[in-house]
Amino acid sequence: MGTALVTGATSGIGLELAWQLAQAHHRLILVARTEERLGAVAEELRQFAGVQVEVLPADLALRADLDRVVERLTSPRRPVGLLVNNAGFGLGQSFVGGELAAEERALDVMVRAVMVLSHAAAGAMAERGRGAILNVSSVAARTAMGTYAAHKAWVLSFTEGLASELEGTGVTATALCPGLVHTGFHAAAGVDDSTWSGPVWLDSERVAAEGLAAVRRGQVICTPSLRYRSANAVLRTAPRWLVRKVAGTSRTGRPLE
Ligand SMILES: NC(=O)c1ccc[n+]([C@@H]2O[C@H](COP(=O)([O-])OP(=O)(O)OC[C@H]3O[C@@H](n4cnc5c(N)ncnc54)[C@H](OP(=O)(O)O)[C@@H]3O)[C@@H](O)[C@H]2O)c1
Repeated sequence: MGTALVTGATSGIGLELAWQLAQAHHRLILVARTEERLGAVAEELRQFAGVQVEVLPADLALRADLDRVVERLTSPRRPVGLLVNNAGFGLGQSFVGGELAAEERALDVMVRAVMVLSHAAAGAMAERGRGAILNVSSVAARTAMGTYAAHKAWVLSFTEGLASELEGTGVTATALCPGLVHTGFHAAAGVDDSTWSGPVWLDSERVAAEGLAAVRRGQVICTPSLRYRSANAVLRTAPRWLVRKVAGTSRTGRPLE
């Protein structure tokens, strides 16, 4: 895979993906908004994993920033072999009565940026006849939990379509669908994560490892852990009225993983 570009690489699942890729000797390009944190993570990766690391500070909700990431992805002299669309966040609000600007930012980061970066990477990779795209969706994709679930459902469906379109090109697309993972996600959304008890939690090491193993196999959908694969199977087959009843948005707009 050579060089991997990871969005949201400074925390949680993205940070763990970056470490595991570095341990597998991939060069890295780290994307996130906070420059100081990007610099610190890059330095640790260089020191402890001994790999080349570039940092690309960008707010993926902003078109000009997104275009700089596209430029890097399509650089003919410095090819990127793996794109990881991981950056994302919970909104911490209900849709009805919530702030529309926050909804638009979430759509821009978790849908538009995923589409724009995948378009750039898939084109460049298909021309070279090799490469991979890993898009982070969620088990929430199969629920009815507000706009976050809708964005993740888009990512899942989009990735499946992309994988079909890329068949025979040497390029693969994988959707990673984790359940609840201990990261900075819930605190960033202002959610008290003690609401959920022990066994529902996954750790980011396992989620990243299963996601990267799926990429290496060219697998299209990866749901880490038997627990969440079973939950997914139930969500896929249950009548939608039941899914809405059990896994529908709460009136408080509690953000979901
Ligand atoms: N944690 C869970 O339970 C869970 C479950 C299923 C799926 N997921 C998905 O997994 C992905 C990673 O989440 P996480 O749990 O690892 O969250 P996290 O620990 O909060 O990390 C989020 C990362 O995204 C970056 N980011 C946020 N907004 C950005 C923006 N506008 N532009 C560029 N980068 C941005 C953050 O850095 P800056 O703030 O510096 O930009 C950070 O590096 C997300 O797509 C999330 O939806 C999470």
